[in-house]
Parts: sequence; C-alpha cells; structure tokens
Amino acid sequence: MARGKFITFEGCDGCGKSTQLKLLSDYLEKAGVPHIFTREPGGGKISEAIREILLNGKNAEMTDECEALLYAAARMQHLADRVEPALSAGKLVICDRYVDSSLAYQAYARGLGEEFVSQINGQALKKYRPDVTIFIDLTPQAAFLRKHGADENDRLEQAGMAFHERVYAGYKAVAEQEPERVVCVDGNKTPQEIFEEVLRILKEKNCL
Ligand code: TYD
Repeated sequence: MARGKFITFEGCDGCGKSTQLKLLSDYLEKAGVPHIFTREPGGGKISEAIREILLNGKNAEMTDECEALLYAAARMQHLADRVEPALSAGKLVICDRYVDSSLAYQAYARGLGEEFVSQINGQALKKYRPDVTIFIDLTPQAAFLRKHGADENDRLEQAGMAFHERVYAGYKAVAEQEPERVVCVDGNKTPQEIFEEVLRILKEKNCL
C-alpha cells in the first residue's frame, strides 16, 4: 500500500488555523478520504501529558532549552503513536503544528538558534518531512485583535507582542528557506477564500 501524505499547518497564535482545520475536516469526511487529524504538542497519552507541562502558566521558570527538548520529546512520541501508523496505513495525516513551530518559537523567538533546534529534532526532520506545510500568514497584531486579547493563563501568551513578532519573522525565514515545501496563504482573506486556496494547494501537491 502507498504511504499516506503528511500535511502540516503552521502560523502564529490566533492566525485562523483551527477554522481551516475544521473546514478541511468537514471536506474530507464528505469526500470519504481516509485521514487523521492530530496536533502538536499532544495527540497521545504521553505527548498530552508533556503538553500539559509545556502550556501550564505556572511553569514560568522552565528554561528555554528544557522547553525545546520537551517539544522535541512530545514530537517523537507523537510520530510513533499517531503519525507513523496512519501513514503506513495509507492515510492522509493532517497535523496542527510540527517542527516549523519549534523553529519559529524556540529557535527564532526564544533565541536558541536553528542549529540547536534542528539537532534535537534531527530524526523528525530527516525521516518525517511533511509533503506540504501550509503557513497561514497573519501578523501577530492582526491575530491578537481577532482573539480579543491574550489569555493570561497561557504560558506562551504571557510572552508578549515582541516575542510573537519574532515568531512571525521565524516563520517567514523558514518559508523562504523551503519554498517547495512551505506554502504561504494570506491569513487576511476570508476563511472561505483561504480554504479554497488550501484545497487548491493540496490538490496541486497530489495530497488530495
Ligand atoms: P495551542 O493552544 O495548541 O495553540 P494553537 O491553537 O495556536 O496551535 O498551543 C500550542 C502552543 O505551543 C503555541 O503557542 C505554539 C507552541 N509551540 C511551540 O512553541 N513549539 C512547538 O514546537 C510547538 C509544536 C508548539
């Protein structure tokens, strides 16, 4: 059986990813395409437990290195638990965030650098490179306006606007480095317009 395709969605907090994932989910259900939806960090018992540690607002003393390693650890477990079984069963795998989030948030925004983050994610980068990554391109200012402000219990959102601007710059750099894989979609358009573009891209990349 042919291996399934691996699609990831990326973007700043509040960029409209969830809306697109919901639209795609409805579409794939109707079309009867064998698929799974999953998310990072999380997607299984162990990775969800790591997610709880990472996103808990009370863990403010966590070092940047520990954070990056926990994201990488959750990723490896998630690949084994959910991604690999679905890909080898020929299913389409749609993942909400993946290694590019670690590059944007940990390498660029936290300042750990690409080398460190690529190194600890080496296995994921080599063996599980997405067939296509959809980057919903929306600035953090626009995203925060949509969300009507930050959630004070979210450890990452406590980081503030300057942090999110670095995340955005990180994504732009990654997209520039890998234009074949990372496709930018204008997040200012209406959800329906964005979705039509997402479908067009997935068809063009032979994922649908
Ligand atoms: P989540 O509530 O799922 O946010 P969203 O709905 O925007 O995806 O929280 C995930 C957070 O984790 C998000 O702020 C990005 C961050 N993150 C990293 O910093 N590094 C990573 O490698 C991943 C996968 C996520």
